[in-house]
Amino acid sequence: MRNTAAKSRRSPAKNAVGLRYKCEVGVDALIDVARRVRDDAHAPYSEFKVGAALEGDDGQIYTGCNVENATYGLSVCAERVAVFKAVSEGARKFRRVAVVADTDTLTPPCGACRQILWEFCGDIEVILSNLQGKTESLRLKDLFPRPFDASFL
Ligand code: THU
Repeated sequence: MRNTAAKSRRSPAKNAVGLRYKCEVGVDALIDVARRVRDDAHAPYSEFKVGAALEGDDGQIYTGCNVENATYGLSVCAERVAVFKAVSEGARKFRRVAVVADTDTLTPPCGACRQILWEFCGDIEVILSNLQGKTESLRLKDLFPRPFDASFL
């Protein structure tokens, strides 16, 4: 992976792994980024840490981990953190997202995250993985088959 931060006005701050990624990475590398950002999760209440790595169509990777709050309801999932980071940095087109949690049955995005992913990413590839390296690739449309979106408005 090469560091091209100096080239882009919109490059993000350094992420959990201390690098700014912008390149063509394989799916294993995308999963690895999600696995590493998972370590930064703030999940003292659920103790359920999740990492997400969202790849823009230019190869930029936007990371997210879940960030919980003592009021519980204000907690935000890893996937939404990644999407909001990306959108706030000007990204609008995405290729795929990797989600990593420590579960035998692979953890899929929750309903709220599916809605947000659909809004900004459409029918992207959703790659689920766990710490043992079990991996599955799905389309968002299969996880979220009858979405409400701007086409109804
Ligand atoms: N969580 C995520 O971050 N992503 C998911 O795909 C499922 C759930 C978080 C929310 C909360 O902080 C914790 O996991 C337990 O639900």
